[in-house]
Amino acid sequence: MAFSIRTKLTFWYVTLLTASLLAFGAVFSYTLSRIFIDRVDEQIGSVAGMMAHTVVQPSGKLLLPGDFDIILERFFGIRIAGNFVQVLDMDGNVAARSSNLESAYLPLSQDTYEHALNGVTTFEVYRNFGRYPVRLVTKPISLKHKGVVAIVQVGASLQSMEEVLSSLFYIFGFGLAGSVIIAAAGGWVLARKALKPVQDLRAAAQRIGAENLNERINVVVKNDEIGRLAATMNEMIARLEKSFLQIKQFTADASHELKTPLTILKGEMEIALRIKNDPEAMRDALKSSLEEIDRMSYIVRNLLDLARIDVEKTGMKDAASMQEVALDRALTERVDHFRRFALDRGVNMAILRNDPVAVFGDPVRISQMLFNLIDNALKYTPQGGTVELSVEAEDNAAVIKVRDTGIGISKEDLPYIFDRFYRVDKARSREALGEGMAAGGAGLGLSICREIAESLKGAIEAQSEPGMGTTFIVRLPLA
Ligand SMILES: Nc1ncnc2c1ncn2[C@@H]1O[C@H](COP(=O)(O)OP(=O)(O)OP(=O)(O)O)[C@@H](O)[C@H]1O
Ligand SMILES: [Mg+2]
Repeated sequence: MAFSIRTKLTFWYVTLLTASLLAFGAVFSYTLSRIFIDRVDEQIGSVAGMMAHTVVQPSGKLLLPGDFDIILERFFGIRIAGNFVQVLDMDGNVAARSSNLESAYLPLSQDTYEHALNGVTTFEVYRNFGRYPVRLVTKPISLKHKGVVAIVQVGASLQSMEEVLSSLFYIFGFGLAGSVIIAAAGGWVLARKALKPVQDLRAAAQRIGAENLNERINVVVKNDEIGRLAATMNEMIARLEKSFLQIKQFTADASHELKTPLTILKGEMEIALRIKNDPEAMRDALKSSLEEIDRMSYIVRNLLDLARIDVEKTGMKDAASMQEVALDRALTERVDHFRRFALDRGVNMAILRNDPVAVFGDPVRISQMLFNLIDNALKYTPQGGTVELSVEAEDNAAVIKVRDTGIGISKEDLPYIFDRFYRVDKARSREALGEGMAAGGAGLGLSICREIAESLKGAIEAQSEPGMGTTFIVRLPLA
């Protein structure tokens, strides 16, 4: 059965308190009765000792008048009051008793009797004597040369001790019950007070949903456990809010990017419908419609790639496509692919260094990353410019550099170029594509590069000087 923390706290608190009070009470009453009995023993012991000197004649004969109380009073006076005295001969037969014993006899067990015959004094508690127990000393009287000649027994009632202990028992019992009730009530209230912030936390967590992720839990005391928990939860909500906003932004951007070519497409189609007997105009309309369709499928393909790399990043990728990839070979292949394009644009492209380094990853993705970087370098470098590439190993990492002498990126734009759909100059990049590159300029290339680099536990960075050129540096762990 599940109890609330509050119930458990109170329960343990009360249990501990009860246990410690009971232990204290037990130790206390034991010590008290010990002290009491020690004092009684001292008293009856001394009476018994004096009796031993009084009731025996040097010859060994007992000196016991008919009225035993008279000697007791004469020798001990008031000190004897309250003590029961009994003298026995060495056979264990009662020779004299104090009159306060009335019809009762002090008991003499076989063990005690034998101890006495051996000269040993015994202290014991005798319970079946009237209302209160009696502390009893049994002391042998021995003479030199004659050994044990008689046994004297002195008893004292433990009435006052019993009375004190029983009143203590009641006081303690009521005290304990009272403090336990107070402690339970107090503990219950205190636990509630201590757990109040948890309730607040719960209420706050319940309140926050997708629509109000901008809200935060109010942290009253910052440095206690609850405060830290609340702060951690706030950080978590902030992260959720960030990714939520990113997804929202992404959806909005994606819809917008797809809507533009669709609108253009619609316009072209409407024009085409109105064209009569002009095959040339019809051709133009269809051609430009096809371009928009290409553009849309380019965007959709890139979006799909992004989504797939996202999945690969979380480790759900099948290991089959992961293998050792020779970066130098991948770069050469890619550069060959772009030779014609570079020539057309009048950009000089060269591999400066191509060390044989290998990384572990999906060759298709690595190739795609190189493609996007070289594509950008060529696209954003005017005629007469240069694009230089290199692959090398540096501090346990494979480093790919793509450097161009192109238009560069301003400081304000640099932090955002890896964001999805981010383009420095939206209008320009669309026209910069030129012939043969009908599709492109969606602003997804670099975000795909970053996703790929991160999925391989690597990183990508850009350095740029507007008007001078840009360098992209990719670092990947060596295979
Ligand atoms: N080498 C470069 N020189 C100057 N600007 C660059 C360079 N590479 C990227 N940029 C800027 O960064 C922006 C984002 O690049 P990214 O590759 O993500 O998108 P894109 O090239 O415009 O479109 P896509 O790659 O999706 O076809 C580009 O629009 C461009 O403004
Ligand atoms: Mg690009």
